[in-house]
Amino acid sequence: MASVLVLNGPNLGRLGSREPDVYGSQDLVALEALLVADAAGRADIDLRQTNDEAELISWLYEAVDTMTPVILNPAAFTHYSYALRDAAALVTKAELPLVEVHISNPHARETFRHTSVISAVATGVIAGFGFGSYRLALRSILDL
Ligand code: DQA
Repeated sequence: MASVLVLNGPNLGRLGSREPDVYGSQDLVALEALLVADAAGRADIDLRQTNDEAELISWLYEAVDTMTPVILNPAAFTHYSYALRDAAALVTKAELPLVEVHISNPHARETFRHTSVISAVATGVIAGFGFGSYRLALRSILDL
């Protein structure tokens, strides 16, 4: 069965207790369960989280090497990591879908969150729907 990599950047390991007014009260375990149910046997969900930029980049290389579509919440790296952007570009240049997702709507928040250095190399961007952003991204990948 095909896999979908669901990659999460820094501080997303604290979902559930981190700013629940912004990010909700559910954690990554709950997110994984939702996505596994949504995939309904059509794809394996491989959900990971790291605070380490190098590890996130190595997972994007892995996506290219294994031809695996990606759902990416780059978290704060969204706003400044050119290294992550260049690695994300490798995924889409390989004609694999890479959907950038955000739980919150960064455009409705502080000014520094209005810039994404990732969006220009992503297949698409979904933000502001809570965990629904990941579910919509999964649906778009499964439909492709
Ligand atoms: C986030 C938005 C980012 O601005 C922030 O740094 C995060 C989470 C989101 O999912 O809403 O860590 O990517």
